[in-house]
Amino acid sequence: MPASIDVAFTPDLLPFFDLTGKTVVVADLLRATTTITFAVANGATAITPVLTPEDAFRLAADQPNTLIGGERGGVKVDGFDLGNSPREYTEAVVSDRRIVLTTTNGTRTLQACRAAERVLVGSFLNLRAVVDRLAQVEGELVFACSGREGGFCTEDTVFAGACVAALGETQLTDAAEAAKILYQIHRDDLLGMLKNCYHGQYLAAIGLGEDLEFCAQVDRVDVVPCQIGGRITA
Ligand code: MLT
Repeated sequence: MPASIDVAFTPDLLPFFDLTGKTVVVADLLRATTTITFAVANGATAITPVLTPEDAFRLAADQPNTLIGGERGGVKVDGFDLGNSPREYTEAVVSDRRIVLTTTNGTRTLQACRAAERVLVGSFLNLRAVVDRLAQVEGELVFACSGREGGFCTEDTVFAGACVAALGETQLTDAAEAAKILYQIHRDDLLGMLKNCYHGQYLAAIGLGEDLEFCAQVDRVDVVPCQIGGRITA
């Protein structure tokens, strides 16, 4: 069981956290960490998050058998193989492939957590698997919510709160308590929460409403992707 749990509501707060020696779970429910979870579950051999499309093209050019995925404004970048819809990352598409991924907020957060001892990737798709893994952690645990362009996002905090609630008795910061309360408010209608939140409404408005139903699935897979040395693997 973690000794304590804290939550960074946005990546802009991460510089105020000392992540050294800690376990971090990165959350970007809509949609980067859902996409990464599903891609790894479907056999992607490694996912490298990078900050810009230019970095993605450069890195992929040096690596055979690599797909480039991600978005800007929620939409696939020109010249990329894939967007950031988890539904695109099927076994037929990603099995035995490397992926270079760049998204607006999620990959930024993953990069910002590199000082941590362990960086795990969470989503509703692998909620139970993440909680089971975290139950083995003995040090301090921090949830890094990706938010939206530096701001707060309900859905990432609800995910953090779901993990806090499932982990049970340990020392919680006020932020972790608040995340748990937010989860308790939304626990019976996660899809409704995704449909109501700002980014969910944005995705629906650009024709990606089906992604909300996909991202609301709980415990669909049992992998816990882990970022080591800038690469995410099973
Ligand atoms: C992000 O990283 O900002 C998101 O995953 C955006 C999205 O594609 O929905």
